[in-house]
Amino acid sequence: MTCGISLEACPSPNYHVSSLQLLERIVPEPIIAGRKSIKLDLQPGTYAWCACGRSRTQPFCDGSHAGTDFRPVPFTIQVQKIYSLCACKHTLTPPFCDHTHRTLPPV
Ligand code: FES
Repeated sequence: MTCGISLEACPSPNYHVSSLQLLERIVPEPIIAGRKSIKLDLQPGTYAWCACGRSRTQPFCDGSHAGTDFRPVPFTIQVQKIYSLCACKHTLTPPFCDHTHRTLPPV
């Protein structure tokens, strides 16, 4: 639990957990499968985007998320064209790249 105040002002600094640390414990972190988008010429149809980063068939789910809290993100393509799909798994517009990979810390 967090006391909700800064570490400096916390009356229990030995047990203090920041809001970010608490969020990281609650929200699982995906594996970064790539640090740039994957561009694919997609035919109309329904696909399952890998959200966990564990799939060996990026950017699509291969079932490797089993045992994690992640689930694939289904999406439907209506028009054939080249799509830019997220590989870093941190996009805010899944399954499409929003260039969040440019803001991720280096390895
Ligand atoms: S393998 Fe990553 S969501 Fe299924």
